[in-house]
Amino acid sequence: VNGHVHGHEKAGIIPRMHLDHIHLWQIDLHLSPDEEQTQFALLSEDEQKRALRFLADKHKKRFIAARSGLRRILSQYLSMPPEAITFSYSEHHKPALAPTHQSDLQFNLAHSSDKAVIAITHQHAIGVDIEKMKPKDCLPLAKRFFSPQEYADLLALPKTQQPTAFYCIWSRKEAILKAIGTGLSLPLSSFSVACDERLEKISLENAAWSLVSIPVLNDYQTAVATNSPITSVSLWHFFDHKPTLAKVFKW
Ligand SMILES: CC(C)(COP(=O)(O)OP(=O)(O)OC[C@H]1O[C@@H](n2cnc3c(N)ncnc32)[C@H](O)[C@@H]1OP(=O)(O)O)[C@@H](O)C(=O)NCCC(=O)NCCS
Repeated sequence: VNGHVHGHEKAGIIPRMHLDHIHLWQIDLHLSPDEEQTQFALLSEDEQKRALRFLADKHKKRFIAARSGLRRILSQYLSMPPEAITFSYSEHHKPALAPTHQSDLQFNLAHSSDKAVIAITHQHAIGVDIEKMKPKDCLPLAKRFFSPQEYADLLALPKTQQPTAFYCIWSRKEAILKAIGTGLSLPLSSFSVACDERLEKISLENAAWSLVSIPVLNDYQTAVATNSPITSVSLWHFFDHKPTLAKVFKW
């Protein structure tokens, strides 16, 4: 990341957020049987039904952990119990706070393997993506899904750097798509992103998007996009069940 990094662990602080800042939460999706029960109880009826439709127990647990994590995190910003939060969904299934909350808080969630990230800001549309990096031949996928520019950028890199750059591009494209919220109705090859972590501006769908990658976890690529300038991203996690500020990135 080209920004300044301020590293400090501060435990147990209730997150306060300036209007133009982004908070990025990292959560672990492992649940003990006890935790699964208590966290299932925090979900709405439609979320519980969705959880029970998963065929694999692993996927059910991850869904419960991600949604209850989302509710517990939002509850701190909204000062209300996690189970009292109501979501509404766009035509393309992007979740948001229901209008009854009368809040300008915006969020987006992503998961990969047993980790999830949640990005939170005020007012502006936001998207986040996380991808676990797996050793695989990425060039055929890049040729098929990426723009010609992105494919050329990837080919120009030394072979050893290509897998990381592939996941970097992928997570950045997804973060933009998720900020816009229309899913894959916008062709992936119709726009280009950088193949490294840099903060960049991209004009798409009549809006100016800011996009940056944040080193959240080893072996994962994480990117955030929003339609306002990005000046700061604070990285939060739960430590001993307490909200803990891990790092602040500034540009
Ligand atoms: C739904 C989509 C927005 C992202 O899906 P994904 O990458 O499988 O999953 P992620 O973990 O990043 O995001 C899922 C979460 O995003 C949120 N979400 C759902 N629809 C959304 C939308 N239209 N816009 C933004 N966020 C959305 C939900 O919170 C969802 O979590 P949930 O399962 O708990 O409800 C969609 O773009 C998609 O299907 N992408 C996959 C496309 C692909 O193959 N990309 C290759 C890139 S090279």
